[in-house]
Amino acid sequence: MCPQTDLPEYAFIGRSNVGKSSLINMLTGRNKLAMTSSTPGKTMLVNHFIINKEWYLVDLPGYGFAQRGKREMDKLWNLISHYVLEREQLTCLFVLIDIRHEPQQKDLDFFQFLGENGVPFAIIFTKADKISRQKIQNSVKAYLNVLGEMWEELPPHFITSATSKMGKDDVLNYIDSINKNL
Ligand code: GTP
Ligand code: MG
Repeated sequence: MCPQTDLPEYAFIGRSNVGKSSLINMLTGRNKLAMTSSTPGKTMLVNHFIINKEWYLVDLPGYGFAQRGKREMDKLWNLISHYVLEREQLTCLFVLIDIRHEPQQKDLDFFQFLGENGVPFAIIFTKADKISRQKIQNSVKAYLNVLGEMWEELPPHFITSATSKMGKDDVLNYIDSINKNL
């Protein structure tokens, strides 16, 4: 069940193991807020965390686990799509992408779904500490090129690392700037 308030919500989603829990912990500065785990896809709920009494950080379950059965996948997708499409307070959905990977069809399909339904979203590239600066640039460029074939306007994007805290202020300032204009 979601809280019954009208505070703005910023939700985080990505495929299993993308670094979502680590990113949430980095943004909030708390180690146990979102449990990091080595068991993929433990989050099966929509979790709300209130931040500074101003906004909710929403931890969504991951999409697209090959390991899961179809029924469970369907259930998860219902949960995700219901939140994403119906939650009026949803102000921006951050989609996490592991910066080391080439654009994956499942992610592109999800972006397509968001675009078609007019869901405001931004991209957070994770684990930037794992590759060189040059590779970061190449990887982001490759991604934006593919998205550029889908739309004329590109979504905002952020390059982050939970290990080095890269991008922390960028993401938090982005959220603050939206909140100030609401
Ligand atoms: P699930 O909830 O299990 O689907 O995973 P998740 O997306 O929440 O990822 P999680 O934060 O648990 O991280 C998965 C693995 O990647 C862990 O071993 C983390 O330590 C590692 N990891 C996450 N973020 C980073 C990062 O920025 N840099 C590095 N080097 N490792 C990271
Ligand atoms: Mg997690």
